[in-house]
Amino acid sequence: MQSWEDPIADARTSTSSANAPAVFIDPLTTEKREQTEDSALGSSTVAVASRERHEGVTGLESIERGADRIRVDDKKIINCRADLNQLVPFKYEWAWQKYLDGCANHWMPQEINMTADIALWKNPEGLTEDERTIVKRNLGFFSTADSLVANNLVLAVYRHITNPECRQYLLRQAFEEAVHTHAYQYCIESLGLDEGEVFNMYRELPVVARKAEWALPYTNSLGDPNFRTGTLEDDQRLLRDLIAFYVVFEGIFFYVGFVQILSMGRRNKMTGVAEQFQYILRDESMHMNFGIDVINQIKLENPHLWTESFQQEITMLVKQGVELEIQYARDTMPRGILGLNAPMFEEYLKFIANRRYAQIGLPQQYAGVSNPFPWMSEILDLKKEKNFFETRVTEYQTGGALTW
Ligand SMILES: [Fe+2]
Ligand SMILES: [Fe+2]
Repeated sequence: MQSWEDPIADARTSTSSANAPAVFIDPLTTEKREQTEDSALGSSTVAVASRERHEGVTGLESIERGADRIRVDDKKIINCRADLNQLVPFKYEWAWQKYLDGCANHWMPQEINMTADIALWKNPEGLTEDERTIVKRNLGFFSTADSLVANNLVLAVYRHITNPECRQYLLRQAFEEAVHTHAYQYCIESLGLDEGEVFNMYRELPVVARKAEWALPYTNSLGDPNFRTGTLEDDQRLLRDLIAFYVVFEGIFFYVGFVQILSMGRRNKMTGVAEQFQYILRDESMHMNFGIDVINQIKLENPHLWTESFQQEITMLVKQGVELEIQYARDTMPRGILGLNAPMFEEYLKFIANRRYAQIGLPQQYAGVSNPFPWMSEILDLKKEKNFFETRVTEYQTGGALTW
């Protein structure tokens, strides 16, 4: 009996002996064509067969009735050949658990009281110019950065992660990125900022633009509709994009802004904006941890991708990210404020970069650095955080409470 995992070339040989026309299904176009042994379409079939052998499925293939049931061992994180529409049996329990944890942390921007922020922002004596710059630049960076992350997830990464429980988390993450963009928009609107100025900073302000420009080539590479995984080079492309976005973009590029805004909140300034950032930070740390689990799972299942030269390339890639973020700290904070200064950020970024290296199995690159912001670790530790659910103002409607 044929199984869906069998390459089409094999199917063709075996079905032809039964004297029946073979049906070839292109999983990308769901195009069906009938073919006999002497058909002129032979060469294109070979092309389809060779591409199929390398690629994973997408989940949009035609249903194969009566096929063998999915077993855990059929599942693979990339280049999987098993049906992607069946969530269970679970293989990657960590992915499902992160999906549940993400749902348990649900929040919406409108639940956070912005009244004190609006009063402070409107008061000419309320904040210094440097403090206003920090708020505006971070809203400028994050308001477009989260859209970029969401677009990378949906248009580049999702298709190539061939596992239903990981995709379930990616869908949750994609929604959370929408909530984050909403949160920044909500802050910008509440404070009455010039929306055009803030949303265009990533095109007009070099310090904001540089980080997005650094990340774009990685997602462009995968977003190409002709891109497929399945070869050493292409699987490394996917791994490189995942590291660029999960480890550098979400794991390093967000952290100067998080520290700056949360420091204001700790000093009782812009507490609503800071609270929004606090929930976003909590989501982001889960996104990053999920990404690191995916990266390590790909490495585990495909050790041939993790070559010496690839490791060196990734080491450099993370270093570039650290350098760009140090520059961002200097440009957003030319003078020390809030008890913070740019050299502290340099040390902090090197400290977290060391952790990122260790998390993906690379040697730490910065000797003798420690964490100048230990309070950030406390915020990241969910158990020590104040109970979000005690402060929330909105009750979510459950199915039983909805009226039609
Ligand atoms: Fe986000
Ligand atoms: Fe994120």
